[in-house]
Amino acid sequence: MSFHAFACCQVGSERLLKADVARTQPRLRPAFARPGLVTWVSDTATSAALDLEAVFARVWGASLGRATSAEDVTALLGAEPGLAATGLRLHVFARDPAAADAAAEVTRLREALLAGARFLPETQPQAGDLVVDVVVAPGEPCLVGLHQHGAGRWGVPGGLPEVVVPPESPSRAFAKIEEAILWAGLDVRPGNVALEIGSAPGGAALALARRGVTVWGVDSAPMNPGVLAYRGPAAARVEHLPIKIDALRWEDLPPRVDWLLLDVNLAPPVALHAIQRFLPRLRRTLRGAVLTLKLNDQRIIDGIPATLARIRRMGFRDVRASHLPSNHRELCCVAR
Ligand SMILES: C[S@@+](CC[C@H](N)C(=O)[O-])C[C@H]1O[C@@H](n2cnc3c(N)ncnc32)[C@H](O)[C@@H]1O
Repeated sequence: MSFHAFACCQVGSERLLKADVARTQPRLRPAFARPGLVTWVSDTATSAALDLEAVFARVWGASLGRATSAEDVTALLGAEPGLAATGLRLHVFARDPAAADAAAEVTRLREALLAGARFLPETQPQAGDLVVDVVVAPGEPCLVGLHQHGAGRWGVPGGLPEVVVPPESPSRAFAKIEEAILWAGLDVRPGNVALEIGSAPGGAALALARRGVTVWGVDSAPMNPGVLAYRGPAAARVEHLPIKIDALRWEDLPPRVDWLLLDVNLAPPVALHAIQRFLPRLRRTLRGAVLTLKLNDQRIIDGIPATLARIRRMGFRDVRASHLPSNHRELCCVAR
């Protein structure tokens, strides 16, 4: 039984993560931290099922301790009461993916651990599976943690899906939407239709069109010509409405919208107010929304719980937010 918890976040977001957890889990007291990793100690037991409810945490769970070799990792797991001897998923990942030699160290340790019979060969967990997290940084002991896979958690080690942005994409938003789809497990299908508010220059629209989704983009700024000329599977294309959201009229909207995307440089309350107006028109066919919430100042960061509550009141049952690998001063909220 562990009395320690850990969470991994984007390097540089440790302070935000600590503040988040101080709010959601006041029983946890901060212990040691490194760039990309924060740990806590508790007077009561923590378990793999710990739910931090912290949007800046990318991976989190019970912390079992630190290890300097594969044998140490195995010994820590062996000391954990009630932990099955086999059938565990193994996620080995870098605390700071940009650090020199991190990838080589991850590969070395993962191969050494997989040589034992304890772990399943596939990394992708099913809901309920126990996942051993081994957080690696060259030149320091790794941290060994344990979490239970479930909704709102990444299936890939460290929540680092390594999306490759193609050279023809005009923006990094290609990676943001791909990461959102992977993180939330969105069932985006060829033939679907998306409405994107804040679509220029068109990285996200290109990613969706490549998946066979036709995108209607609303933005007064110009779209990239290559994106507008692109034709994807299921005859997917990108249509541009060169207007601001306030000028959007119901009759401009396509008859069916499966996915709503919001990615405007506006404070979240302003952006949400703008989409609220035509949500009733979309509700009948809408399968989900991917809302990028800009975090321009501390007031907005402090207001994240209220913002998520507001999105629930807009009629979404399941609302989750995460700081995706490609998010900087913004959060991804998926609402269904
Ligand atoms: C981060 S960029 C969007 C990137 C885009 N999603 C992509 O995939 O390339 C933000 C966009 O929001 C647009 N924007 C800002 N205010 C807007 C408004 N009121 N209505 C529509 N678009 C707006 C800007 O013109 C800008 O192109």
